[in-house]
Amino acid sequence: MRIAVEGCAHGELDIIYETIQEMEKVSGKKIDLLICCGDFQSTRNLSDLNCMAVPDKYKDMCTFYKYYSGEKLAPVLTIFIGGNHEASNYLQELPYGGWVAPNIYYLGYASVITIGGIRIAGLSGIYKSQHWMQGRYEKPPYTENTIRSVYHIRNLEIFRLKQLTGNIDIFLSHDWPSGVTKYGDENILLKGKPFFKHDIENNMLGSPPTMELLEHHYPNYWFSAHLHCKFAALIPEKGGTRVTKFLSLDKCLPKRKFLQILELKHNSDLPLTLHYDLEWLTILYLTNHLLSVKNGIHYMPGQYGNTRWIFTPTEEEKAIILNKFNCDLRIPLNFTQTAKPYNPDATDVSFDSPRLLINDQTTQFCNTLGIDDPSVLLQLTSSTKESKSNELLMETSCEQISSTHDISVSFDEDNILSSTFDGSVTGNAFSRASPLNLSPKSNNEEQESEISNSRSVADESLNNLSSAVNYDCTDDSNNHFIQTEPNCKKFKRRNYSMYSNTL
Ligand SMILES: [Fe+2]
Repeated sequence: MRIAVEGCAHGELDIIYETIQEMEKVSGKKIDLLICCGDFQSTRNLSDLNCMAVPDKYKDMCTFYKYYSGEKLAPVLTIFIGGNHEASNYLQELPYGGWVAPNIYYLGYASVITIGGIRIAGLSGIYKSQHWMQGRYEKPPYTENTIRSVYHIRNLEIFRLKQLTGNIDIFLSHDWPSGVTKYGDENILLKGKPFFKHDIENNMLGSPPTMELLEHHYPNYWFSAHLHCKFAALIPEKGGTRVTKFLSLDKCLPKRKFLQILELKHNSDLPLTLHYDLEWLTILYLTNHLLSVKNGIHYMPGQYGNTRWIFTPTEEEKAIILNKFNCDLRIPLNFTQTAKPYNPDATDVSFDSPRLLINDQTTQFCNTLGIDDPSVLLQLTSSTKESKSNELLMETSCEQISSTHDISVSFDEDNILSSTFDGSVTGNAFSRASPLNLSPKSNNEEQESEISNSRSVADESLNNLSSAVNYDCTDDSNNHFIQTEPNCKKFKRRNYSMYSNTL
């Protein structure tokens, strides 16, 4: 099967799909799956836009709402993980994954799915040390703090992903596994991004728990985004024979390397539709008691406790879960709208305050598996607090009546199909006056999360990986290439001077 991998999508679905269709036309080969590595921006309406962590001047409805409303249909099956620029309120409705629009599937905080027998694991969000041991306590409407912490990864997801066994074909994370640069050509990376130097030298670039996951599983491929550049690396297993091919891609902008095509062998007896992974489902079930929606330090079980601390399921446990799903692991096509889509013609631009919604897809999934929906737990927490405060109010008024009342409260290299594609594409995918102007460094977190090390490995396969599909969108006089310098807006970002001599 042919898979297109995209870096940060930043809401530019029209452009991405048009580019894929042009590639299909030129190569004569259909693309079966599109994978987006975060910053997807599934904003359905203005209320969602308000839940996205970017400065107001960069808030743009972009094109997702058309796919949500039904005005357009995603022409290729699309899966994505969350990054740090997301409609977090919408993604919170689907913590275990679900359809955000027909043919567009979000993987949830973390999950594992299969398609044609190819096993794909994903982890949403970015690492931030101060939140990673907390529960999932955030809920819309967000505060200035929770609008950011909501997309920070948590120890529960890493713990769950570490319970997996067997081969993983593709692993997705938005930020880079920490230290991954030492397995690729750092000199070339630093040529394009000299401001990574400090972080690389001080081992501050990327996510340490994500690298732990990589070194736990050594999946065949690992795809990331976030740092807005193309970078390839080969990570060999310590003391073993496995090798992970890492590739990070740029964001969707003219002349940027944002798409990579791979061709992987799949099981042709299986349909190219999404399926749940039985082992992952069983892990979710077995670790449901570890879910927390509290704002506080939350430890995962370890070997010195008195409780079970390894949740790699047994065959018997998996059989029980399979039974719960009636031996049918197909992911149901049960998308439904939970909020009104954006209407570009509307004159009234007011919007409702975002609130926590329960999504039927999650309800159905949790009921089948027998686990908790974090949103339901959050609602219960709120209503408990509310009833406590109502109690307090009542008791207070009682007290006013009677002052004696006591109140108590408490790669088939694999076939990196060197995407045989050289970037020549007809069409005009970039020709709209793109308001794509999200700053790639729109907050300090991104700057802080960029990482490091010194070893440079560049062997033949790595070169192949790096040179594979540079899907540059270059202009030429015959207009046979996607173009558009003129539409490429310049953006000014915080600490602009820091970057300006490199842009
Ligand atoms: Fe990002």
